[in-house]
Amino acid sequence: MRFVKDIEADIVVFDAYGTIFDVHSAVMRAGQALGLKAQAFSDLWRQKQLEYTWVRTLMGRYESFWALTEESLDYALATLAPAQKDLRAALLESYRHLAAYDDVRPVLENLRNNKVKTAILSNGDGTMLEDAVKAAGLEALFDGLISIEEIGLYKTAPDAYRLVKGAFGIEANLTLFISSNRWDVAGARLAGFHPLWINRAGRSDEYRDCPPDAILKNLGEIFLRGR
Ligand code: LAC
Repeated sequence: MRFVKDIEADIVVFDAYGTIFDVHSAVMRAGQALGLKAQAFSDLWRQKQLEYTWVRTLMGRYESFWALTEESLDYALATLAPAQKDLRAALLESYRHLAAYDDVRPVLENLRNNKVKTAILSNGDGTMLEDAVKAAGLEALFDGLISIEEIGLYKTAPDAYRLVKGAFGIEANLTLFISSNRWDVAGARLAGFHPLWINRAGRSDEYRDCPPDAILKNLGEIFLRGR
C-alpha cells in the first residue's frame, strides 16, 4: 500500500504510548484531585518514565516498563503531590487502560480493509500492551504486539527496532513506523524504517540529522491523497 510522500510499505508499525494511547488520560481520569497541577504532574510522570528508560539502557540495567512507570509516578507524587499519595493505586490502574486517540480506530480499520499488516513496537511490557489494546477494543486490528522486554533494551537502541523484522520478516525499508515521540522517530530513521512523526502536541522539530519522512498532525494524514 502507498502512503503519504508516496512511501510504499508492507507493514505499518505504531509506537504505543503517546501515539495510540493518550498517556495523559490516566491523570485526566483518576487525578481530578490534583486540580490545576494535573497537567504538570502528568508531564513530570511521563518525562521521568522516559528518562528512566534511556538511563537504564545506557547503563545496562533493565527494569520493566511497568516498574519504571511506578517509579516515575512515585517521583511525581513526592515532588508535586506529597499529600496525595493515596491516588497512586487509581493512577496506576488508569495507566493500564489508557484512552486511545480518536484517530486510531479509523486508520487501523482502513489498513485492515487494505490487507496491510499492522503492529505495535513499544517499550511497554507485553502484558501492559495487551491490557491497553484490549481495553480500547483494538485487539482484532493488530497483527502483533512487540515489546522490547524480550531484549531488555529500550528504544532508541537499534536492536529494539530490529524486533520487527524478527517478528514479521519484513525489511526495514518496507516498514512504515509511526510515532508521536520525535526521539523515537530519530531511532526509527537510523534503523532504516520510513518514520512518520505525528506531532500531536505541535512541538518544534529536533534531531535534525535523523528526520521523519513527513511531519503530520494526526494519524488520518498517513494515507496518500488524490490517487
Ligand atoms: C512506547 C513509548 C515509550 O514505546 O512511547 O510506547
